[in-house]
Amino acid sequence: MKKVSVIGAGNVGGTTAMRIAESGLAQVALIDIAENMTKAKALDIEDARYALKCDTHIKGTNDFSALSDSDIVVVTAGFPRKPGMTREDLLSKNAAIMTDVCGHITRYAKDAIVIIVSNPLDAMTYLAFKKTGIPKHKIFGMGVNLDSSRFANLIAKKLGVEVEKINALVIGSHGETMLPLPRATKVGNKPLVDLLSEVEVASLVEATKKRGAEIVSLYGAGSAYYSPSAAIFEIVKTILSGHAKEIPVSAVLDGEYDCREVSIGVLTKIGLSGIEKIIEIDLTLSEKQAFQQSAQAIKESIKFLNV
Ligand code: NAI
Ligand code: 2OP
Repeated sequence: MKKVSVIGAGNVGGTTAMRIAESGLAQVALIDIAENMTKAKALDIEDARYALKCDTHIKGTNDFSALSDSDIVVVTAGFPRKPGMTREDLLSKNAAIMTDVCGHITRYAKDAIVIIVSNPLDAMTYLAFKKTGIPKHKIFGMGVNLDSSRFANLIAKKLGVEVEKINALVIGSHGETMLPLPRATKVGNKPLVDLLSEVEVASLVEATKKRGAEIVSLYGAGSAYYSPSAAIFEIVKTILSGHAKEIPVSAVLDGEYDCREVSIGVLTKIGLSGIEKIIEIDLTLSEKQAFQQSAQAIKESIKFLNV
């Protein structure tokens, strides 16, 4: 059976482990420095097997050698945003954790596909790429598929249509400079921009950008985890099932969109081996400029990290 390890057993990691275990697609190792909490979550998830009639194995531990033989490693270790805190505020604290975690991945799971989740997402993905030396098609970040999911949800509610009719796309950073793309977003076979006024579209774009902060402010302590774990699961399921699918992720670019030495949200084809292809979509001049600004913001974080 395939094996997925989740590093960080907090809100996002715990929910992700639960989704994977309940899918029956892979055995799960849940790893965190907080030993008892991690063991408790694994036992708690395991106790649901009888009710759910699902025999998946899950183990909770603080021993990173449990990473061995992983097909996929998901990294959710790190501090979440607090109210009033931007993702960028998290940079230094989470870089130290990511560096520590990368040491374990290099030691025990250097052949796995690695999905980074910790924030600030794009800078953490680039840091992990540099620290582990894993090829860029096998290490990437989950962020813009969550943003695309939020955009799709808001559109579905506005138009009163089923969410599966919507094909929404957000690229750029998983941060303040993210770039929801109404022109590339479709409802059925109609472009979103043909169905709503400019003002209505702009308001959906703004709501998408602010959705993460809206949830942070309502929770009062911590950030979203149900939809993030669903977005992680979408990627994990696609890799494990081998049915390649177009999913936007934070990918290390090497000339695509005229960008290098940065990881940023772009549309990709994900399959068995990770990123099978980076899909360069046609952007208007203003979209190109916004994408470059987003890349520049991420590069400033990367420069700050000195990697
Ligand atoms: P949380 O605080 O509930 O869990 C974080 C866990 O990381 C804790 O259990 C902590 O013990 C663990 N941890 C800390 N240092 C560690 C280390 N060196 N090794 C292993 N585990 C370690 O936080 P939550 O809500 O689960 O968020 C986790 C991260 O994911 C945050 O950085 C958050 O900003 C990010 N996030 C990213 C999203 C995305 O779309 N990319 C969406 C939601 C959250
Ligand atoms: C989110 O977008 C905080 O990145 C996290 O909800």
